[in-house]
Amino acid sequence: MATYVPPARTENPYLPLGDHRNAPFYGKDILSVRQFSREDLDYIFGVAKEMHAMVERVGTFDLLKGKILANLFYEPSTRTSSSFTSAMERLGGSVIPINEVRYSSVSKGESLPDTVRTLECYADVIVLRHPEVGASALAAKYARKPIINAGDGVGEHPTQALLDLFTILSELKRVNGLTVTMLGDLKYGRTVHSLARLLSLYEVRINYVSPEILRMPEEVKKELSEKGIPQAEYETLDEVLPETDVLYVTRVQKERFSDLNEYESVKHAYVITPETMTRAKDEMIVMHPLPRVGEISMEVDEDPRAAYFRQMEYGLYVRMALLAMVLGKA
Ligand code: NCD
Repeated sequence: MATYVPPARTENPYLPLGDHRNAPFYGKDILSVRQFSREDLDYIFGVAKEMHAMVERVGTFDLLKGKILANLFYEPSTRTSSSFTSAMERLGGSVIPINEVRYSSVSKGESLPDTVRTLECYADVIVLRHPEVGASALAAKYARKPIINAGDGVGEHPTQALLDLFTILSELKRVNGLTVTMLGDLKYGRTVHSLARLLSLYEVRINYVSPEILRMPEEVKKELSEKGIPQAEYETLDEVLPETDVLYVTRVQKERFSDLNEYESVKHAYVITPETMTRAKDEMIVMHPLPRVGEISMEVDEDPRAAYFRQMEYGLYVRMALLAMVLGKA
């Protein structure tokens, strides 16, 4: 009787035959936007466009059939968590949702390394949101399966920045030459930390408009100035609004303040209204990672330049692309 000889394995013993072993990003973690080059971005956005076309044509298809995603959220989420779920299900895969860690063994005191080593026994990829900077990197150190950072405290939110950039490209058809104005809580807002870094791969000008106490961290500004990106800081929007192509509004991150009086003093620092929009370019777009808590009045929603609802939809296609890529199917 012939003896069964198992096929030779590469570095990953769980690799099913027929997968795209040489695909870029196969088996990789997505931890920070710093890991991406311009070529990577072109590739990701190319796949995202294909995902968009497929969703319009067939809605759901079986690219990731049999694959399982663990959605591990230690902080609240509506968009990120549900868009990853939708992305996985539209690709034919399934999801283990852990949106309330207090009902999981985390509340018994289980460490993050142990929780991810548990989940990877049951899932092929883990999406993680955690209140501490560097939590995803720590998880990735222990996990064999890909970890996707869905926000690590005030650190980064790389998948949001990718969808933000995809939104800019889809809406304005270019990134080079644009003036991007980031407004609001630039100190604690992780989305702007990631987006500023990602934009530094292009030729852009960036304005930071924030209260004095919520300025963009020096570390981020230094990284961008080393890449020759012109950056300027303001406390009011008036001066920079007429030259702005992308107005990126953020929520003041109440949960990050140790002194709530400080939060109270800045929580209504900026409000975008229809009157604000009269002073902006006709082809400008307004973006916001959402949730908004008063920074953009609802009357602005009717303005065609309000891109924040479309931005969420672009997020689905980018997250479908990322899942397919790290699982070796794109
Ligand atoms: C952002 C986040 O969680 O950082 N939300 C999101 O993922 N769309 C922004 C925020 O909470 O203000």
